[in-house]
Amino acid sequence: MDGKLAIEGGTPIRAAPFGPSHEFGDEDIAAVGDVLRSGFNRHPGREFEREFAARHGVKHAIGVNSGTSAMHVCVGAINPDPGDEIIVTPWTAGGSIIGALLHNCVPIFADVDDTFTLDPQDVEAKIGPRTRAIIAVHLFGNPCDMDALQEIARRHDLFLIEDCAQAHFARYQGQVVGSMGDIAGFSFGGKHLSAGGGGAVLTDNEVLWERALLFSDAALPRDPGPYAGRPYANYFLAPNYKLNAMMAAVLRVQLEKVDGYIAGKINAAHQLFEHLADIDEVTPQRVRPGDRHTYWGLRFTLDSERLGCSADEFAAAVSAEGVQAAGPYIGSGQEGPLYRNPFLAEPNCYGASRFPFDYGRERPVDYRLVQCPNGEELMGRGFGLPISPFHTQEDVEDIAQAVRKVVAHYRS
Ligand SMILES: Cc1ncc(COP(=O)(O)O)c(C=O)c1O
Repeated sequence: MDGKLAIEGGTPIRAAPFGPSHEFGDEDIAAVGDVLRSGFNRHPGREFEREFAARHGVKHAIGVNSGTSAMHVCVGAINPDPGDEIIVTPWTAGGSIIGALLHNCVPIFADVDDTFTLDPQDVEAKIGPRTRAIIAVHLFGNPCDMDALQEIARRHDLFLIEDCAQAHFARYQGQVVGSMGDIAGFSFGGKHLSAGGGGAVLTDNEVLWERALLFSDAALPRDPGPYAGRPYANYFLAPNYKLNAMMAAVLRVQLEKVDGYIAGKINAAHQLFEHLADIDEVTPQRVRPGDRHTYWGLRFTLDSERLGCSADEFAAAVSAEGVQAAGPYIGSGQEGPLYRNPFLAEPNCYGASRFPFDYGRERPVDYRLVQCPNGEELMGRGFGLPISPFHTQEDVEDIAQAVRKVVAHYRS
């Protein structure tokens, strides 16, 4: 092997591109065709909702048009007051909290540990008189410490919202994610279960379900639905986040295959871990014993001190070898974590005002001052490798070899 890094003009480990992360076929096309041929009179949404809820052992599912919408519906269902606080991890997609902000809530950030999910102790430390909810984001597919978060939520009378966008069918101590909080949101935009977009909300709570369903559909009195029979009107302020019938059709087909898809991803991840096990400078995201990580993302922490390079430099060098790698998640060190993203650090959510960050407060919350030291240290050294259920043996070997080559270069 030519030891010279491709980024410095050497020969890349891998020349051919990797395959797609999802496969859609004749069954998906036929299902979409049925919807179109019916002139959109056929809507498989209710069937998908029933099947998706049943797969989680939860009473109710509501299909929506994105994960961002799903997370907004979760907040809309609990109906907080302006200025209420919601505790969340800063290492997540903006979609986890955009709905909370649109609902005039104030995100309060708690630190993470080496599972890259919320540290329950710091969550508890961040609870104040205006806290209404905790959002537990199962990041990259790794479940949060749900026993601890459930216990904290119960003791402080808070809603526990699960963000399962990246974690379809992950399990915390045997229990599937999305079935442990008061309400949960999912994204179907390129996640394990994908329709190229879409999302869903799950809940066992009848009161939350009624409001969530109405909230996802402009609070209109649909039949069937909680307000059926009432005069046609918008009953409270709510967006239209309904799931499109064509997406629902694809999701029904994909739901049949998702177990195999996830098993393939887990298998590929485990193979890669085996290949990389002897590289001390590269540590995988920690999974609690007894939990099932479903690897939407395959993420590591780099010992950048020992290697003398940043995670961004490392990822760029691996990518140049023909293996598309990613640096820190949510741009840590640049715009990340979320509290350094411009939508919070330069707050202008509503015109030139500081609302909702100053609502009912002597001083507005200033996200430029927020710090989560443990997460900043860990996530700033984060990098990701491509993971797919369709990885061949050769793909896995190429990925491992690219990492090995770059590590060997920086070690010397
Ligand atoms: C953790 C998390 N929450 C919410 C979202 C928002 O989902 P969507 O992109 O479908 O709006 C994403 C999207 O990637 C996500 O990763």
